[in-house]
Order: sequence, then structure tokens, then C-alpha cells
Amino acid sequence: MSDKRKKVITYGSFDLFHEGHYRLLERAKALGDHLTVGVTTEHYDLMRGKLNLVDPIMTRIENVRKTGFADEIIVEDHEGQKIEDIQRYGIDIFTLGSDWTGRFDYLKQYCEVVYLPRTSGISSTALRKAREAIVRIGIIGTGRIATRFFKETSFVSGIETVSAYNPEVESAQAFEAMHQVRTRSDDFDAFLEETDAVYVASPNETHSGYVRLALSAGKHVLCEKPMTFTHAEAVELYDLARERGVILMEGIRTAYLPGFSQILSVAQNGTIGEVCDIEACFTRLGDPDSREMSDARYSGAFLEYGSYSMLPIIKLFGKDYEDIRIESVYGKNGIDIFTKVTFYYQNKLATAKAGAGVKSEGQLVISGTKGYILAKSPWWLTREFDVRYEDPNQIDHYESSFSGQDGLRYEIAEFVSKINGTGGNDYKLTAGESITMARVVEQFMRIRQEMQRSIR
Ligand code: CTP
Repeated sequence: MSDKRKKVITYGSFDLFHEGHYRLLERAKALGDHLTVGVTTEHYDLMRGKLNLVDPIMTRIENVRKTGFADEIIVEDHEGQKIEDIQRYGIDIFTLGSDWTGRFDYLKQYCEVVYLPRTSGISSTALRKAREAIVRIGIIGTGRIATRFFKETSFVSGIETVSAYNPEVESAQAFEAMHQVRTRSDDFDAFLEETDAVYVASPNETHSGYVRLALSAGKHVLCEKPMTFTHAEAVELYDLARERGVILMEGIRTAYLPGFSQILSVAQNGTIGEVCDIEACFTRLGDPDSREMSDARYSGAFLEYGSYSMLPIIKLFGKDYEDIRIESVYGKNGIDIFTKVTFYYQNKLATAKAGAGVKSEGQLVISGTKGYILAKSPWWLTREFDVRYEDPNQIDHYESSFSGQDGLRYEIAEFVSKINGTGGNDYKLTAGESITMARVVEQFMRIRQEMQRSIR
């Protein structure tokens, strides 16, 4: 017997459940006899650029359930699911608030589409803003990455760039003119005073000094990689942050991308069996005069890009490697144009490669006893990857887009939610993992310095 009931469906995040949500569900239910409500997963919200949601999915589902309007609650976790749901559940009416008017007209070929007037004056975004004090951030360093950071902060709620600092007057002035943000080049204390948090994007050799000063002044710190050149200093800085009760985060942006988290979960959930080997490679051929390709003391392939290649290894195999072997190919002045680090774990192997002046296939391959994960370049900006098996015809393809060009806003959003204590996502890049990478960096620096001394 066919189902004669008029079936309605609606979707939303329903974060910080409010009156607008209640009134929408009430009217959606009144459109028919049976209401299905799709609640978005965190992963899906992250992919579509909805950052900083406060309530976990179970709370959001519970709040929808408590209204009593939903006959059925489902989760929405991917693009294209709406068409699948409409067909699967035999939906007659698809409805959303009027802020979406026109956006879902393409569903009219499957069912009726109704946009209900939105309740004015309230939204989850406004409620989230009201809960959080705005974090005033200052940028240290005014180069390319600082400009990108400045632009990306505008996409994250709860943060505002209030000033910048660069001891080089010309560069400071250019930044100020370009972004209309006060940029100082003399009084560092005054700069710190007007901020709650700083983003350190200065030359590598100055990172740890700035981090120490900012933490000592009680500021939260997000620092570009590599934060330090030594293990002891990394330990000291994380200890200092803990003592001062502030957040310290190393900015390896891949760690904060939803797609990268998905790679890690697929590697850990048994799909490819037991993971035995990881190979990660990142290379970039840049301008020969750029810092990456010419500063033989504090830059070069490994210091610039090695953190990306080490990240999946440290995330999946942990901090306790038994041994490592570091080998480099050197260019002029003894800068490493290519570095390969082999990690030896108990019955597991891994290789991290970095190139600045050498080009290679920048891929991530995670090999297991049942299959392997292949994430092609640019895997560090994870948007898709494959799981492959012995049978070459069997390929599971995963897609996980993110908004923005370089994913920086996910790192910033994580920083803000940690500062506000709503993150609970410490697992994305822990202090221990960052300290482990500093230990490898220290060993690399020692080897490179010895080599440079020997050619002098
Ligand atoms: N909605 C509404 N009136 C409001 C807010 C939301 O009718 N004042 C509707 C939306 O149009 C949507 C549903 O409630 O159909 C779920 O919306 P959701 O995106 O979860 O809520 P918002 O408050 O719009 O969230 P955000 O500010 O994060 O976009």
C-alpha cells in the first residue's frame, strides 16, 4: 500500500537552538503530515565553511527532537544528499527558510520547494558572536603569509586583526597602507598591549623569541612552522604557555583541514588493515632568490616544508620512533634543496621528503596490510584521496572540500575556539606532536651545520 501521507523535509545545523529554528520547524510540520529533519554533521559544516559551531551534533539533534515537530531525524553529511533523501524517503515538499530563496529551486524536478519566511532578528551566527568576546589579534611579520592570514581572519567569527608589527619600517608601512591596519615597527610592548593574541609569521629564526615574549606577556600564540629549532626550546615554550594559562599552537595548517582528519580516520579504522609504511612528499620550485631557496642558515627545503611531510607520520605512528636517518642533497651555500627523513618505528617505516629546488611527485601514500591510501598533490590541501586495493578496479574515492584557497581559516577557527574553550579538538596537533617535530628539526640543523662547516 502506498504511503498517502504528505511528507516534508528540512535541513539545518540548528546550532544554539533558537526561536527562529523552532518557528521554522513548526511551520514545516504544518505543511504536511510527516516531517523529516536533516541535521548537519560537524564534518559537513566544516567542508561548507561553517566554522566555530558550538553545539556538538548530539546536542543539536536532541534540541530538534525536543520540539516534538520532527517525526524522523537524519544526519546530513555530504553534498548531493538532499536529492538522495528526497527519493529515498518519498518526499513531497522540501522546505527551508527564506534566506535560501532560489538556492534550491533545482530540487523542483523532484518535489515541491517551499521557502518559509525567516524569523527576523535572530541567528546562530549572532548568538555565537554574542557568546564570544572578540579576540584581538596582532600579526608579527608583514610578508606574504601575513597578508593571507589577514584576509582569512575575516571569514572566521570571533577574531579581528587589530595591529601588525615588523621592525623593518618600510615593510611595516607598506602593510599598513595595504590593509589599513595599524602597523608598528618600534614599540613591541605597545603592540602586545593592544592584543589578546598574536600570530607569528616573521622569519624562521625569530619565531621562538617572539613566542616567548608574547607568552610571557600572557598572550595566546599561533606560530608559523617551524616554531623552534630545538626540542628543549619547544618543551620550554609549551610549558610557559601552560604556566600562563594561554594557548600555544603551531601553524601547520594541514592538521586543521577536515579532509586531512578524514585521511587519518580512514587510516586508523581498519579499512586498509594495519598501517606499515607512510611516504609523504612536498616539493616546491620557487624563485631562486626567495628565502626558501637562498637562506642556508634558517631556511631551505626541510625547514620550510618538512613539517607537512612529517605531519601524517607523527599523527599516525606517534612520537616514539626508534631511530631516524636524515639525508639531504645540498645546493649553493650548503642549503638543502632536498631532504629525506626515514623514520624507524617498531615494525613500521616512514619517509618524509621535502624539496625546494628539486621537483618530485608530491604525494602521500599510506600502505597497509589490506590496501593503501593515495592522496595526490596537493595532499596537504586535502580535498580528495583514494583507497586502493590489490584489485586495481576497486577504488574508493573520498572527497572532502573546504572553503577558501589555502585552508588557513580552519587553523584560525581552531585557534579561536581553543581560546574560547569551545574547541575540545586538541587532537588535531598536540603539543607532544609539535615537540616531536622540533626534535627532528634539531637533528636536521645539527647535520646541516656540520656539513656546511666541512665545505667552508
Ligand atoms: N531559520 C529561520 N529563522 C532564523 C534563523 C534560521 O527560519 N532566524 C531557518 C533557516 O532558514 C533554516 C533553519 O532555520 O531553514 C536552520 O537554519 P540554520 O542555518 O541552522 O540556522 P541559522 O540561525 O541561520 O544559522 P547560521 O547563523 O549559522 O547560518
